[in-house]
Amino acid sequence: MSSQPQQIRRNTVPMIAKRKGGEPIVSLTSYHAHTAAIVDRYADFILVGDSLGMVMHGMESTVGVPLDLMIMHGKAVVRGTKKALIVVDMPFGTYEESPNMAFRNAAKVMKETGCGAIKLEGGKRMAETIRFLVERGIPVMAHIGLTPQSSHVMGGFKTQGRDEDSWHLHEEDARAVTNAGAFAVVLEGMVEPLAARITRQIDIPTIGIGASAECDGQILVLEDMLGLNPWTPKFVKVYGQLGPMIEDSVRRYAEEVKTRAFPTEDQVYR
Ligand code: KIV
Repeated sequence: MSSQPQQIRRNTVPMIAKRKGGEPIVSLTSYHAHTAAIVDRYADFILVGDSLGMVMHGMESTVGVPLDLMIMHGKAVVRGTKKALIVVDMPFGTYEESPNMAFRNAAKVMKETGCGAIKLEGGKRMAETIRFLVERGIPVMAHIGLTPQSSHVMGGFKTQGRDEDSWHLHEEDARAVTNAGAFAVVLEGMVEPLAARITRQIDIPTIGIGASAECDGQILVLEDMLGLNPWTPKFVKVYGQLGPMIEDSVRRYAEEVKTRAFPTEDQVYR
């Protein structure tokens, strides 16, 4: 018996690109199928960010995240969703060396996960690679400002643009990724007036994280906004306190196991 594949109509790259200057674009990170299914009902795109190395796997930075881990989580998120465009991050060391290397690894990510686009960090220095990928069928979301994969060079996670003299460098990065064919650009950790200037200057949507409401859309790490991160960065608004809720549930479970209050008649097969 032949079966029709389930029809899935996802947001596309051109749909996101067209939102420039319009209704703000909603996005969140997600790393696994269950949370992605919830986020999918509200987000225009979902990012499988390499922040998963820190959030899910306890790494100190995103530098150690391997490609296979991104692919594993990317597959889970694609399986759990129907509507949002899924963007998967290229981890450190898998795209910077050459456009050919970037193409090989980005194509692997797209083929194996079924995602609709990839994201990579870097402005002017990555423009040639972005153009190479886009011309060969790989949609690219760029990421400039605070780029966590370069935290060792930057000397930590530092807000960008505090010194007005540096603004032109970030503006040049934004123009370079736009001209190279990126369909959107994440602006991370930058002062509001700089984010506003960049958003006005380029014709692709800017997605802010710690870059103010002047951007064309916003992204947050899901676990941060759910109160699961013991440390809350200034740019995060905590919308739910899941940390204490999980702790309370686990504590009550432990107590009930010890006192044999769980399982009860309801959970037992007779
Ligand atoms: O990896 C990630 O979660 C990201 C977002 C912070 C934009 O790149």
